[in-house]
Amino acid sequence: MKKLVAAATFGLAVAVSAAMAADGKALFASKGCAACHQATVDTVGPSLKKIAEAYKGKEAELIKFLKGEGKAIVDPAKFSVMQPQLNTTKSMSDEELKALAEYMLQAK
Ligand code: HEC
Repeated sequence: MKKLVAAATFGLAVAVSAAMAADGKALFASKGCAACHQATVDTVGPSLKKIAEAYKGKEAELIKFLKGEGKAIVDPAKFSVMQPQLNTTKSMSDEELKALAEYMLQAK
């Protein structure tokens, strides 16, 4: 509610700059990704470290995967668990997906 009021008050400029400043780490937490993906330990899903290694230098491909247009390369056998999560990422903006991908890729 507060956010809506703020956006209405300050107009489009605020909304645009907020999108550009999309925070990958915050998105990762708020979209529920952290429930299955830990930094360095495999839990339900592979660790961020493992994902970052698999997608090193392939940010565009990672974004493609999140848009539901790519193939699982990290742990394809468990893709059925990840697949429903793509409904969440598919509805995100390009800016948000880029921030999310950058956050995941810098995991070590
Ligand atoms: C219910 C548990 C669960 C949640 C929640 C979840 N994931 Fe996953 N994720 C998995 C599993 C299991 C895999 C391994 C299968 C695979 O590689 O696709 C995976 C794999 C991945 C991969 C590697 C894809 C590849 O090429 O193999 C990425 C990237 C990823 N998840 C991102 C996310 C993001 C971003 C979110 C939040 C929107 C998220 N996950 C939420 C379980 C989950």
